[in-house]
Amino acid sequence: MINLFEPQLLGATVPLKNRIVMAPMTRTRTSEGDVPNQMMATYYGQRAGAGLIVSEVINVAPSSKGYALMPGIYTEAQRQGWRLVTDEVHHHGGAIFAQIFHVGRMAHPSLMPNGEDPWGVTEERAEHSDVFAHDQDGKLSYIPAGTPRRIRTDEVSALVDTFSQAFANARQAGFDGVEIHAGNGYLFDQFMNSALNTRTDRYGGGSVENRTRFLMEVVEAAVREWGPGHVGVRMSPFGQFNSMPADPLVEETLLFASEQLGRHGVAYLHLVYELMPIGNMETGEFKKHHISHSVLAQVRAAFPGAIIWCGGFNDREGAQTALDTGLVDLIAFGRPYIANPDLADRLKHGWPLAEADRSTYYTRRGEIGYTDFSAYSGQ
Ligand SMILES: Cc1cc2nc3c(=O)[nH]c(=O)nc-3n(C[C@H](O)[C@H](O)[C@H](O)COP(=O)(O)O)c2cc1C
Repeated sequence: MINLFEPQLLGATVPLKNRIVMAPMTRTRTSEGDVPNQMMATYYGQRAGAGLIVSEVINVAPSSKGYALMPGIYTEAQRQGWRLVTDEVHHHGGAIFAQIFHVGRMAHPSLMPNGEDPWGVTEERAEHSDVFAHDQDGKLSYIPAGTPRRIRTDEVSALVDTFSQAFANARQAGFDGVEIHAGNGYLFDQFMNSALNTRTDRYGGGSVENRTRFLMEVVEAAVREWGPGHVGVRMSPFGQFNSMPADPLVEETLLFASEQLGRHGVAYLHLVYELMPIGNMETGEFKKHHISHSVLAQVRAAFPGAIIWCGGFNDREGAQTALDTGLVDLIAFGRPYIANPDLADRLKHGWPLAEADRSTYYTRRGEIGYTDFSAYSGQ
């Protein structure tokens, strides 16, 4: 039986000091130019007690900017900003992977280069979902996602090269690996969803090979840059965040992808168990999307790497019970990490957990609700 506080060698190459993962969380604290800064370095360094930190999601290119104030990894300044973060995490004995994505249709012309339309797998808009962009008066607020333009086949292929460059940049920035964000209704997820992907090209929804082709090409690029032990993939099968339609072929896609990712030498699969509901990020409310143990067992059989399970864990007992199923290897904690930088110690010693104020999740309020939580001191 695996113990939550037992070390692990991830992908046979990255040593983790325990089975606790800090889940990726967008916190919108970047500096001008979507550049990571010293305050972000402090925040991540404070949380280096996790076996693995997965960074907030990072834009692969300007066309991926779906929400204001999110970081990128395509300029020199951004790369240097991330170096501050990775140095700080390593200084505190932690490991950190860069979560990278393309936002796809979850964007708005007010944030896109030259005011162009968001990039979509089709022209179908995320009808009931908002993005954090500029309203008619130029003010940042939550507004409905724009109507996307269906990207051309050659643009999808070109995007694979853009990801390659981002993976190289992540290496130069000192990360320990990369996590490809293929969940939560963003571009990879849009391609994989058979109900949404009505394309007829080689990336089209008609076959599982085509639906997963974009992801697999990007995974190959990541493994080429990093080697197999340093690449993870996050998926949220069954999730309906960002207006994702229910997909009758979700299990087929998940199992095929799991098997293929294993073949490519992906170190871990990060499965989200609980997600935000349809709506915007500001509501901060969550809804359960259960991945059944029987589906998980099939994923386990298909995928030889580690499995991270995320969503709704907030104590030692629940996390250990999940590990005891033998179906997963690591447990990711999102919201509990906001107010408990020393979460691993608190879980280990049974110390109480602090609660974060939801209104500080995504704000420009700097250190407030961000780096101002201290380690447990007995009070
Ligand atoms: C403030 C906040 C920001 C988030 N940003 C991201 C993100 O950038 N990438 C991602 O994959 N998931 C993101 N999520 C989802 C979390 O990684 C996680 O799946 C979710 O919070 C459920 O886990 P929890 O119950 O431990 O919080 C975010 C969640 C929160 C609360």
